[in-house]
Amino acid sequence: MSRLNVGIIGAGHTAGLHAKGYEESPDAQIIAVCDIDEDLAIRRSLDWGARRYYKDVAEMLKDPEIDAVEIITPHALHAPIAIAALNAGKHVSMERPIATTIADAGEVLKAAEASGKILQAYEPSLFYKPLLDARSLIDAGEIGTPTGLRIAATIGQSISGVWNWAEGQDLWRFDLDQAGGSPMLFDIGYQAFAISLFLIGSVEKIDVLQRTTKLKEGLELDAPSTAMWKHFQSDCLGSLSLSYAPDRKMRTVHHPLEFRITVGGTRGEIEIIRSSEPTQLDPPVVLRRDGRRVVYGQKTSAFEDSFVRATQNFINACHGKEEPLLRGAEARQLLILTLAYYESAKRGRSVSLQQG
Ligand SMILES: NC(=O)c1ccc[n+]([C@@H]2O[C@H](COP(=O)([O-])OP(=O)(O)OC[C@H]3O[C@@H](n4cnc5c(N)ncnc54)[C@H](O)[C@@H]3O)[C@@H](O)[C@H]2O)c1
Repeated sequence: MSRLNVGIIGAGHTAGLHAKGYEESPDAQIIAVCDIDEDLAIRRSLDWGARRYYKDVAEMLKDPEIDAVEIITPHALHAPIAIAALNAGKHVSMERPIATTIADAGEVLKAAEASGKILQAYEPSLFYKPLLDARSLIDAGEIGTPTGLRIAATIGQSISGVWNWAEGQDLWRFDLDQAGGSPMLFDIGYQAFAISLFLIGSVEKIDVLQRTTKLKEGLELDAPSTAMWKHFQSDCLGSLSLSYAPDRKMRTVHHPLEFRITVGGTRGEIEIIRSSEPTQLDPPVVLRRDGRRVVYGQKTSAFEDSFVRATQNFINACHGKEEPLLRGAEARQLLILTLAYYESAKRGRSVSLQQG
């Protein structure tokens, strides 16, 4: 089996986490890096041992040696770049969201089908080993029938300065044309739905209460927020509580994030913690049932590991060894849910979703 030759498009903060999976793989290698910031493209191609760099995506896509691309740019570029890459005969792994409109997501799916190439929606939160373990415990009936899913997400302040908006970084997230919504929409909002689809299943009704926090003149963060939803064809209700804690320092070089996910069932409950802070001490999975408390997952909870697993899934899919965990159709469903959440927050009323 020859190594998969990969081109990275968008070499910003998150790209380093994507690159790790290639650096650790004998089955793939990064051979090219593209970023409109030429200095960054040069620096990253040296860091990752890539043979060449590009400033222009269209030029990169002409490179016949590239088998696959990873798209890690601002959101509005995802769909057009994915369509161009699929049309150029490349496999595509793309960061969330697959597109910023449902119509564009449909075009990405059509291009993937016409090309016969792999389209993976890259979602590392679903590759977090403690979450996979929790899903197995739920499927095995350890907590009985799930009746409630509670997700508490906190954004703090990273010692690395990533997501330090007051310093004027990541401004594209506040630009509706580039981000496709409010800054936390395709981060925390989207991840909450990815996790709830994975653990429980599809959603039929969403209700959101949202305040904004002024970061500085002209910059407002869409937090705190509280969302509630009902899962389809089940009596399970879900909720997201998103808090912004600018004075809470997180010792992480990545995005300063913590998720506490609790699934309550008729027999017990399970709690999962995913944090980008390696020094957080709580056990990643706790099962409470029948007066017992069992902890799991301490060896597999490093934040980076889920990115490495997501990349490995893509490499294996391109080599025909496994299916992508999150394909275009599921990514389109996640986009629909996330846009419904946005709509509910804007209008201050519940939004119902059609199934199918
Ligand atoms: N999976 C996760 O946990 C996670 C975490 C954070 C961000 N993300 C996603 O990753 C993506 C990128 O986010 P980020 O935080 O790395 O942003 P970033 O701003 O740090 O990086 C984006 C990069 O894209 C480059 N770029 C912009 N236009 C380009 C173009 N036309 N061609 C080539 N490069 C271009 C920019 O110069 C920048 O270097 C987004 O989709 C975001 O939602 C995912």
